[in-house]
Parts: sequence; structure tokens; C-alpha cells
Amino acid sequence: QDDLKNLAADSDFRAHHVHVIGGGVMGGDIAAWCVLRGMRVTLQDRGPEQLGRAVRRARQLFQRKLRDRYRIQEAMDRFIPDHQGNGLGKADVVIEAIFEDPAAKQALFKDIEPHMKKDAILASNTSSIPLQQLGAGLVDPKRIIGLHFFNPVARMPLVEIVTTHETPPDLARDANGFVRRIGKLPLPVRSEPGFLVNRVLMPYLMEAVILLDEGVPATDIDRAARNFGMPMGPVELADTVGLDICLSVAEKLSTLLHGKVPGNLQALVEQEQLGRKTGRGFYEWSKGKPRREK
Ligand code: NAI
Repeated sequence: QDDLKNLAADSDFRAHHVHVIGGGVMGGDIAAWCVLRGMRVTLQDRGPEQLGRAVRRARQLFQRKLRDRYRIQEAMDRFIPDHQGNGLGKADVVIEAIFEDPAAKQALFKDIEPHMKKDAILASNTSSIPLQQLGAGLVDPKRIIGLHFFNPVARMPLVEIVTTHETPPDLARDANGFVRRIGKLPLPVRSEPGFLVNRVLMPYLMEAVILLDEGVPATDIDRAARNFGMPMGPVELADTVGLDICLSVAEKLSTLLHGKVPGNLQALVEQEQLGRKTGRGFYEWSKGKPRREK
């Protein structure tokens, strides 16, 4: 843990250009947040449809936070949809936020490594895949670091900085400096299942999913948690995070979860009912709000 403490030291690293790959729930919002903090950001996804959604969400965030029409336009000018990945070679920080699929992420990292600037930070927003696995096919596997943001990015201050014992200390310090510069709170953690936050959070979410399976209505569970003082109930939170992401983290942590992942969660993911992002999960969703229990 000693080398983790050294992260508190500041670094000279300055990021002007961030390239984000994967413009879904997380990538789109990470890109918009970095723009809001003054950076130029290129956002890469597989097609114009995904990028269009991210641009609309970014505009809403800028309207909420900036209000002034000229400042909103300046922010929109720094937010660059980049279907072809042209920004990759110019970026000081590259953040990967594609599907939580180890093979897809490994293939992507192998593809992009030769085209990046030598001293650029290469980060993954993975919730559950060990860095060692992600970096396996790279010329320099040690250069991957985890920057684990939380959902919704604009409201959640914490970012876990995920390292292994092999991570160069300078890289960890630079990542720490970057996170501070975008106005977030860095939390250094090791690349172990669940890092820190999900290790605490997932058993709580999964117990709620088991209660649901036992017939307790989602609205009762969520109301109880809110009355207890939580900002959002666990069922609504699971839908907001995305049930595919919850399932993937829960599988990695299954030893902490009575050795078993709840069947109702697995069934919904198989039916592609992933929560808020697909309009259906444990709740039905409309205009970003859970409407009623199914
Ligand atoms: P998502 O499914 O909303 O978005 C993934 C995006 O990646 C999609 O737009 C997809 O078109 C794009 N994509 C897939 N393969 C691609 C490729 N090869 N090149 C370019 N774009 C590609 O997923 P979400 O929820 O944003 O998760 C992304 C990552 O963030 C995952 O690793 C997840 O574990 C992590 N994460 C998710 C959180 C959440 O609350 N949803 C919280 C923290 C981390």
C-alpha cells in the first residue's frame, strides 16, 4: 500500500486533448465532463447513431451547467464526434469505455497501442476486468491504468485509480493529477475484483435483487432505502448502472455473494432488458425516469 500513498504527490502532466473510445452511458458522459473542464475531446464509437446520442446528452449537460449560449457553443466546439478515431494519435489521455467484454477490450488495446503518442495515458473504465488481462497482448502491458468513473459521471465525484504492482509510479501520479484536474476525487486502488467501491456496493445491490426474487416489490425496496437516507434505491440504481454491467461485476464477486448470482438478473440480461439504457430492466423507464414496476 505504501506506493499507493505516494500518489498524493502532484505531477507536471498536462492534458489538453482527451480521446474517449465507446460513447455509451459512461464514455459519452466522461467525454462531456472533460470538455466541461476545458479540454478538447474526441469521442469515438462504432457509428453516427451512438455518437448522436452522446452529443445530445453532452448538450444537455452544457446547458445545465453553463447556461450562457456562447459558453455552451464553445463547449460544443471542443466536443468532437470522431467515428474514424482520428483523435487517437493526438491525445494526451485515451480512455476506453466500450462493452465490458475482455476479448473486445483486448483487441481494441492491441489495435490502438501503435497509434498513440508514446507518453499518452492509456486508461480503461472497466468495472471488473483485471488490468493484467487487458494488457496481455500489448508491447508495453504496464502502460494500461484503470480510471474507474461512476454513474452518473456529472454527479459522482469519485474516480478509482486502478493500478497493479507493475504500474510505473510516474504513470500513477500522472493519472492522479489528471483526475484532480478534471475536478474529481482520485481513490487509488489495486486491480483486484470489485476494486473498492463495487466490493461494498454489489452485495447491497444483489441482496435487493434477491429480495425482488422473493416477491418484495421494487418500489418498497427502493422506498425503504431512500427513507434510510440513500439518494437512490438499490433496484433503481441497478437499472441505472445497467444490468449487464451489474451481472458482470457480480459474477467476478460471486464468492462474496453466497457463491451465486441471482437468476432473475441473469434472465433479464439474456432478454436484453438491461435497465435504463434499453428502457426496461427491473423497472420500465421513460424520459430517464422509472415509470412503473413490470
Ligand atoms: P454501454 O453499453 O452504454 O456503451 C458501450 C459503448 O461502446 C456503445 O456505445 C458501443 O457502441 C461502444 N463500442 C463497443 N465496441 C466498440 C469498439 N470496438 N469501438 C468503439 N466503440 C465501441 O456501456 P457502459 O455502461 O457505458 O460501460 C462502458 C464501460 O464502463 C464498461 O467497461 C463498464 O464496465 C464500465 N462502467 C460502467 C458503469 C455503469 O454504471 N454503466 C460504471 C463504471 C464503469
